[in-house]
Amino acid sequence: MFSSLQELEGGLRASGYIADSIATTTVYLAARLQKPLLLEGPAGSGKTQLAYAVADAADTTVERLQCYEGINEEKAIGKFDEPLQRLCVELKAKSANVDWESLRTELHSQQFFGAGPLLRALQCERPCVLLIDELDKVDHAFEALLLELLSVWQLSIPKLGTIKARSIPFVVLTSNEERRIGDPLRRRSFYLRVEHPTAEREAEIVALRTPDSSHEFHAGMAGLAKALRGWSMEKPPSVSEILDLAQALKVLGSEQITAEMRDILLPLLAKTEADRRKLLLRDGFASLIFDAQQYSAEVLRRSGA
Ligand SMILES: Nc1ncnc2c1ncn2[C@@H]1O[C@H](COP(=O)(O)OP(=O)(O)OP(=O)(O)O)[C@@H](O)[C@H]1O
Ligand SMILES: [Mg+2]
Repeated sequence: MFSSLQELEGGLRASGYIADSIATTTVYLAARLQKPLLLEGPAGSGKTQLAYAVADAADTTVERLQCYEGINEEKAIGKFDEPLQRLCVELKAKSANVDWESLRTELHSQQFFGAGPLLRALQCERPCVLLIDELDKVDHAFEALLLELLSVWQLSIPKLGTIKARSIPFVVLTSNEERRIGDPLRRRSFYLRVEHPTAEREAEIVALRTPDSSHEFHAGMAGLAKALRGWSMEKPPSVSEILDLAQALKVLGSEQITAEMRDILLPLLAKTEADRRKLLLRDGFASLIFDAQQYSAEVLRRSGA
């Protein structure tokens, strides 16, 4: 997929994803060694986006399986198109000499099978990115189904047979850790924790999304993120929420957060009642702004601005 680490690094950045060197190297090794990548970390930390960025960097497509409780094989692998099969039988039945045995074989061929994302990923001419998103939502039985795919790159489908991979996809598994992913899947994968970024990296991410704003503004957003995360909130803000905040400030025509803006910004900063109360504490918001300014000054100093 990638001929060098530098190519991957450049590709991720060009697609708007800022990864640290450990994440980039892990992705590179997983791609080279054809290992699935298991991403765990808080909501909004960039797990799903990393899969899309890798696909973008490799100039390939994404097959996405969105997991949920009660997901079944049909949804993941696919199923026979029964109305189409019925129609075919009706049409053939009209002709005088029907070879029922060959019709049976035909009806159970891939022509009559509507492929789901797992099967589509195996059938790509060129390796695609197979994103199995929020794997922690499924049960153990479904996890076991994935083992065959990830071990031998094939799928056994009743009545259709065993389908071998035409190309081996780059598999990204993501989890918010609501349920622990089993060890057999972990053993087969490389494991990457996707945490909140450092203030410097967050400033870069904000800069990518709001390129018209000043360097001070980007550092200010990163400083505020760091300050909020140091406040032991019930739901600390993720990168995506800081990006929302940056966009909101642009809409409001403001480049700076002041203590007076507390009530307007509260719905964007505190997402639980406990956190809202915390930010409403007397002097709470003002001291948060103070911390944020210190952190953003650090970011600016380190970047030499
Ligand atoms: N390193 C990064 N570089 C650029 N953008 C990022 C980065 N991390 C997060 N983002 C931004 O945050 C948004 C949310 O990320 P994403 O949807 O991938 O989070 P997630 O970890 O999958 O969250 P969830 O667990 O809720 O699904 C992305 O659309 C992207 O804009
Ligand atoms: Mg996600």
